[in-house]
Amino acid sequence: MKYEEIIQSNQQWIEKTWGKLDEKLSRTAVKSRYKLPYTTVNGEHDDKSQDKAVLCWTNGFWGGLMWQMYVGTGKECYKITAEESEKLLDNAFHYVDSLHHDVGFMWHITSGVNYRLTGNAASKNRNLLAAMSLSSRYNVDGNYIRAWNADRIGWTIIDCMMNINQLYWASEEIGDPRFKRVAMRHADMTMRDHVRADGSVNHIVVHDTEKADTVLEVKAGQGYSETSCWSRGASWALYGFILSYIHTKAERYLQTAKKVADYFVAETEKTAWLPRLDFRQPEEPLYYDSTAGAIAACGLIELAKNVESEEEKEKYLSAAINILKAMESSWCNWSKNEDSILQMGSERYTKGIHMPIIYGDYFFAEAILKLKGTDFLAW
Ligand code: GLY
Repeated sequence: MKYEEIIQSNQQWIEKTWGKLDEKLSRTAVKSRYKLPYTTVNGEHDDKSQDKAVLCWTNGFWGGLMWQMYVGTGKECYKITAEESEKLLDNAFHYVDSLHHDVGFMWHITSGVNYRLTGNAASKNRNLLAAMSLSSRYNVDGNYIRAWNADRIGWTIIDCMMNINQLYWASEEIGDPRFKRVAMRHADMTMRDHVRADGSVNHIVVHDTEKADTVLEVKAGQGYSETSCWSRGASWALYGFILSYIHTKAERYLQTAKKVADYFVAETEKTAWLPRLDFRQPEEPLYYDSTAGAIAACGLIELAKNVESEEEKEKYLSAAINILKAMESSWCNWSKNEDSILQMGSERYTKGIHMPIIYGDYFFAEAILKLKGTDFLAW
């Protein structure tokens, strides 16, 4: 079936699911207007806007979700909440020495989107400031963007493939290639040192800080072990590489996205399209992670749009829809008594198993908006 035919045959489900998202989120947009939620406690969004909690890497997803809904509906309630969340995020700039590599997750999908949609100059400044902070983490001897702070010297992580989209934007915006060059050097390192031959990925790699192109150690990170494959890490790689392809048109990133996608799809199909937390975890306990499914679905849809052959388009689009449908019927909570939507997210193999996490809702909504055919790419 062709891309458009697959969309057509799922149209009813797509529209119905979008309607449910709008019904639930137009209510929580007002209820949680002055919060930066991460999860829910007794059905209520928590709030990470106060003091140093404002630095939490997930604090852009609520505002980002509001912008996705605004793009898809044009409703003011979403725009107002998105703008409020951006004001709350400003507090993070008071802790410059504690800023980290995840500034793309925080500002690119909030301030970056606000600027692109409304031309707001203050939002452009925020996103550029964050891009400058991210690019200043580049190790010029090692050819990578270092993760985290303090003694994690020389560490790189797969997640950072999503943050570098902010650098592609900064280069485009101010007409200066330096940000894009940093992003591509980092993507090339990630392709070589994080993506394995079979399409699975390493979460954390430790490098020499003074020599280029080294691997000193591979660490387990949030997955089961250093030789296993954390599914959210794989989804960051899948979506991150196809986005790097979209921004640079470098064929190697498209090929890498396909390699990771093929591994992710084959593993997820084994468990009725519901992704496990780690594709190489022991059979028991059977841990899942819905956030990995939502992120991967976004990447698979973009991949389907960017591959040439009808056969590949069908493979990737169908996989995305299978994952989204399986998660919608098994893991979405549409009740009024619960602020979150997608359940069964997992923070890491050792803690925070099967809980709602804000970026699960964000990427689920982004994926459905893509299926609706809305031509808007936040990253
Ligand atoms: N970026 C951290 C995580 O995916 O949990």
